[in-house]
Amino acid sequence: MKTQIIISISLAFLLLNIPKTLSLSPAAAPAKPPPSSPAPAAQVAVTPGPLDVAKILDKAGRFTVFLRLLKSTQEDVELYQQLNETHNGATVFAPSDGAFSGLKAGTLNSLSDGDKSELVKYHIVPFFISSAQFQTVSNPVRTQAGSGGRLSMNITTDVTGSSVNISTGIVNTTISGTVYADSRLAIYQVDKVLLPLDVFTPRPPPPAPAPAPAPEKAGKKGGGAESPAVPKSDKSGAVRRIGRRQDLVILVLGVGWIATAVL
Ligand SMILES: *[C@@H]1O[C@H](CO)[C@@H](O)[C@H](O)[C@H]1NC(C)=O
Ligand SMILES: *[C@@H]1O[C@H](CO)[C@@H](O)[C@H](O)[C@H]1NC(C)=O
Ligand SMILES: *[C@@H]1O[C@H](CO)[C@@H](O)[C@H](O)[C@H]1NC(C)=O
Ligand SMILES: *[C@@H]1O[C@H](CO)[C@@H](O)[C@H](O)[C@H]1NC(C)=O
Repeated sequence: MKTQIIISISLAFLLLNIPKTLSLSPAAAPAKPPPSSPAPAAQVAVTPGPLDVAKILDKAGRFTVFLRLLKSTQEDVELYQQLNETHNGATVFAPSDGAFSGLKAGTLNSLSDGDKSELVKYHIVPFFISSAQFQTVSNPVRTQAGSGGRLSMNITTDVTGSSVNISTGIVNTTISGTVYADSRLAIYQVDKVLLPLDVFTPRPPPPAPAPAPAPEKAGKKGGGAESPAVPKSDKSGAVRRIGRRQDLVILVLGVGWIATAVL
């Protein structure tokens, strides 16, 4: 990061001083990046400002499956915008490639696109948790996928705070390392895929549909908030539910955030 800033500044300086620089001997040209860091130099043009989780994971190298899922579900874009546009930050529990190879064969392939998306979002907490804050985090912890017992997780630490356990209700694991941390984004490595109850246990049956014999109901699309019990189809119902869930999460998080700030 520092290198990038230095390079950017040097470039700007160089542009502003072209006549002066040209009159200097070529050996004095200041803008050559150190030869030891070709990769950061290549990134300068791509990521000038906001935090790019995909790029960080890509650089770390051992998260290729998770990275592929992040991209295929476009959660990388959502996270990128969220980090740029809000001040809550984010916490990512990134399962290593080894974590994915530990899954039962065919687990990922058996998931619908919606479930894949939920699985990825489940690995993201929509606010920043530093490693010290794990000791005081209040359970259950909501995720980007939502709140409630089926979409949140429990995070516990031992007395010294040095070991952090995560329980999803299906999987127990321990954070095995910090991939990245600043003051608003933390990426921790986990060596098991965090399987949410909501995807990997049978979903409760949807609310019984109201007896609806009237055919003119078909024209009433988007019946609005007053008719949540008659989802037109599974899909739109799910989308509506997720939408509301996120509103709630944001509200609750906001309150939680303020509470944390006050304490
Ligand atoms: C970040 O957000 C600002 C507005 O808050 C916007 O102008 C800018 O384009 C965003 N940057 C990226 C890279 O999305
Ligand atoms: C965390 O998990 C490890 C291994 O499963 C276990 O030995 C330890 O007691 C757990 N600690 C907490 C605080 O749950
Ligand atoms: C979290 O802990 C609470 C209280 O111990 C428990 O009721 C709940 O089932 C746990 N949830 C998960 C996802 O482990
Ligand atoms: C996870 O740990 C809890 C206690 O912390 C235990 O009750 C539960 O059986 C464990 N689940 C698995 C799948 O190991």
